[in-house]
Amino acid sequence: MKNLAILISGRGSNMKSILRAIKSGEIDGIKNVLVISNRPNAPGLEIASKEFGIKTSIVLPDENGQTFDEKLIVELQRNDIFEHNSIICLAGYMRILSPEFVKIYKNKIINIHPSLLPSFKGLNAQKQALIAGVKVTGCTVHLVDDGIDTGPILLQKCVPVYDADTIDSLSARILVEEHEIYVKALKLLASNRLLLKDNKIIQI
Ligand code: GAR
Repeated sequence: MKNLAILISGRGSNMKSILRAIKSGEIDGIKNVLVISNRPNAPGLEIASKEFGIKTSIVLPDENGQTFDEKLIVELQRNDIFEHNSIICLAGYMRILSPEFVKIYKNKIINIHPSLLPSFKGLNAQKQALIAGVKVTGCTVHLVDDGIDTGPILLQKCVPVYDADTIDSLSARILVEEHEIYVKALKLLASNRLLLKDNKIIQI
């Protein structure tokens, strides 16, 4: 059994679909869940605590010289979230993790990104897709490494792009698939059915 930390910054719809899947028993192998936000007013915090009864924390930048990620590590470890017993899901978490953080939780952090990586990394992936004029885009769940949206790919799903699409319409179509593949990816990771070989993820 693993502990799970979900890091959010906003709405938390991916977090919600994960919490729902855990609650319904669709994902097993998860013991304790903690939701952390770097923004005190993130709507996802209330969803986690009120709808799901999940413990939440807010981590803010520090005045005493401790870096943000150092505070984050303290908060995680206070809640028994360590490399050997846990998974960390970034779900709309809009901060870049430091290399030190990534090293401590090596291959235990996953992220969802609204494009078919390695295309359209970084911010506003849906807008980037519209500007490029691609006819398909999608979403990716990947392990987090030192780069921005560069880690080994776990799962992807394609989504068509239509001529009449706006950023909102395309984002909404992608989001439906995000919710599905994030749950599937977490299920795979929690069940230890993945192998990392030559920086590629293989299902076993
Ligand atoms: C999602 O579309 C997620 O893929 C994206 O932020 C949104 C968060 O929505 N993440 C990134 O762009 C990270 N690079 P949510 O808070 O409703 O899950």
